[in-house]
Amino acid sequence: MIVAGIDIGSTACKAVILVKDTIAGYAIGPATTNPAKNASDIYEQALKNAGLSNKAADYVVGTGYGRAKVPFADENVSELTCHGRGSAFVNPAIRTVLDIGGQDTKSIRIDDEGFLVDYAMNDKCAAGTGRFLEAMARTLGLTLTQMEEHSANASHAAVITSMCSVFAESEVINLINDGVEIGQIVRGLHEAMVGRVAALARRVGVEEQVIVTGGVAKSSSVLNALAAKIGVTPITLPKDIDPQIIGALGAAVCASEKGSS
Ligand SMILES: Nc1ncnc2c1ncn2[C@@H]1O[C@H](COP(=O)(O)OP(=O)(O)OP(=O)(O)O)[C@@H](O)[C@H]1O
Ligand SMILES: [Mg+2]
Repeated sequence: MIVAGIDIGSTACKAVILVKDTIAGYAIGPATTNPAKNASDIYEQALKNAGLSNKAADYVVGTGYGRAKVPFADENVSELTCHGRGSAFVNPAIRTVLDIGGQDTKSIRIDDEGFLVDYAMNDKCAAGTGRFLEAMARTLGLTLTQMEEHSANASHAAVITSMCSVFAESEVINLINDGVEIGQIVRGLHEAMVGRVAALARRVGVEEQVIVTGGVAKSSSVLNALAAKIGVTPITLPKDIDPQIIGALGAAVCASEKGSS
C-alpha cells in the first residue's frame, strides 16, 4: 500500500510517501499564497523522489496550517497529532517533541504510540520561531547557513535580552555598532530564541527522550543552545530523515492506519 502525508505549513510544504510502512521518498518546498497548488506540486515531487511517478497514493492525509486546502486529501489531521505520531514512528522512546517551525513553536508530550498527552504552543508571536531567525538574518545581511558558520566559530554568546524580533533587531544593531563579533551576536540570538522554546517545554515538562522537529531543527547551533538550556540532549535523527518532515511523516502514519482499516 502507498500512502502520503502532506504538511502545508505557514512557511514550507512537506510531503512523505510511505510504502509498506517504510519511507520511500519525501519532498520539501516553499509555501506560497496558493496552498492547493503547493500541495499538488509537493505530492508529485515526493512520488517522483520515491520512484513512483504517475502512481497515486491509496490514502492521503493533510496536516499543517493549510491542511484544509489539500484538495486530494482523504482527510486532515491536526499538526500536534502528526508531529507526535511522526516522532513515535522514528523512535517510540520519544516522550517530548519540540517543533520549531516558521511561524509557531509547539512543545508536545506524547505516549509510546505518539498520542498527545499534553502540549503548549506559541502561535501569536515570532519569538522562538524560524521567522525570528529569518528576521535577524536579514538584519545581519547573512543567510541562515552563514549564521550557522559564524556561530560555530564564536567563543561565547553576546547578551541579547529581547525575545521580541522588533526589539532584538535594535539590540543587534547596537551590538554591531559597538564592534561585537558577528558570531557572538548570532550565538546570543540563538540563546534568546531557545529561551522561549525552553519556557514552552517546561510548561509541559521535559521528559526524555526529546526530539526537535521543524525546519529550525536543522541548525546545530540552535540544538546545542537548546540542549544546554533544558539540560537534555535531543536525539540524533538518522541521516535520511530530515527533521522538517516529521509532521508530514506523522500524517502518512495516520494515512497508513486509515488506509488499512
Ligand atoms: N538550516 C536551517 N537553520 C535554521 N532554520 C532553518 C533552516 N532550514 C530551515 N529553517 C527554517 O525553518 C522554518 C520552516 O520550518 P517548517 O517547515 O517546520 O515550518 P512550517 O511547518 O512551515 O511552519 P509552522 O509549523 O510554524 O506553520 C523557516 O522559518 C526556515 O527559515
Ligand atoms: Mg509546521
